[in-house]
Amino acid sequence: MSLLNIIHYPDKRLHTVAKPVVAVDARIQKLVADMAQTMYAAPGIGLAATQVDVHEQVIVIDISETRSDLRVFINPQILKAEGSSVHEEGCLSVPGIYDRVTRAERITVSALNAEGETFTLDADELLAVCIQHEMDHLKGKVFVEYLSPLKQTRIRNKLKKHLRETM
Ligand code: NI
Repeated sequence: MSLLNIIHYPDKRLHTVAKPVVAVDARIQKLVADMAQTMYAAPGIGLAATQVDVHEQVIVIDISETRSDLRVFINPQILKAEGSSVHEEGCLSVPGIYDRVTRAERITVSALNAEGETFTLDADELLAVCIQHEMDHLKGKVFVEYLSPLKQTRIRNKLKKHLRETM
């Protein structure tokens, strides 16, 4: 396994739309393993392939306290979305920025797992938020795009300054 480089907003590559995975083969399984290791090391609770500059529909999530419940979503699709709720979100691609986003409260998602098997999952609370956040990445969307234009400008300027200071 290897750690992957996470790209940071406002990098334009974060706006790439991911393509469906054609076959869950050894290459995709290595990507899943590397993404999981990268997410745990960060540390974060979710990571989309877009964030490591791979533009295929792969997501890893682990919202457990013990970091022992890895969930893999390949080619995810939302079958049903109900209600709405507001949560404070952050993102490994937008370090140090947290803000409130409104999303569906409950979702039903279907996807392939790391073995290439189809599964369907009902999710609510943090898991539902996380799945929707990561699926947005696959569509080229970063959570700050839900915020006001003024906030987005402030965040871009802050992260550009941060980038200069850490180079
Ligand atoms: Ni994110």
